[in-house]
Amino acid sequence: MRKQIAAANWKMNLNFSQAQAFITELKSEQFDITDHRSVVLAVPAPYLQFTTEAFKEVAGFSIAAQNCYAQKSGAFTGEISVEMLTSIGVHHVIIGHSERREIFGEDNALLAKKVDLALEFGMTPIFCCGEPLPVREAGTQNDFVAEQLKASLYQLTAEQMSKVVIAYEPIWAIGTGKTATSEQAQEMHAYIRSQLATQYGQALADGVSILYGGSVKASNAVEIFQQPDVDGGLVGGASLIAKEFAAIIRALK
Ligand code: 13P
Repeated sequence: MRKQIAAANWKMNLNFSQAQAFITELKSEQFDITDHRSVVLAVPAPYLQFTTEAFKEVAGFSIAAQNCYAQKSGAFTGEISVEMLTSIGVHHVIIGHSERREIFGEDNALLAKKVDLALEFGMTPIFCCGEPLPVREAGTQNDFVAEQLKASLYQLTAEQMSKVVIAYEPIWAIGTGKTATSEQAQEMHAYIRSQLATQYGQALADGVSILYGGSVKASNAVEIFQQPDVDGGLVGGASLIAKEFAAIIRALK
């Protein structure tokens, strides 16, 4: 079975003492983390090292950065390199979140470079894709997502692609309380997998974890995660409350 992943994306939330309290509480919860299940915590950059230390001995938990830069090093004030991340034991990174695309103007070509660099340094990119509302209303979401995949991922070799995690996050469902229905999620996830199969073969496509993101909470996680092509979730708001996120972890297949 491909990896089922519950990923928290805290975005720019929680101060350090709140983050510490969350970590203590989450570590006190009971989970059945087997070989095919894992948890990723994408915390704000200032807490990466602390969180990595806190979960060092906890099997199945990984820490992720929410972003990285597309250059190895140099005069890029305020940016974080993949080498900095791996040097403190962070081996996952979210790339192409819709907030990075929309607020910070990151385009498909820049994201392709970030994906390449992350893989070069042995990191696991969690590559986000997903359509805005007008695209969904026009019914052209498949073409929109297919283009995002093509433009930022299809330069990869099959071996590289097998290390990527994909997160489908329809923008109209992010932070809106308006979740895609489990049918809409399944439909898009199956489509993404079929695209990967066309590009890289069915066996590879069957091994790629595709997470759903957009208003996932404890009360809807089971239904969404039960869909055959949904391999867990990338969770924003509901990942800020330890008990709620713990329930989401327990909802993994
Ligand atoms: P919400 O769960 O708050 O809708 O955010 C989803 C998201 O953007 C996760 O990356």
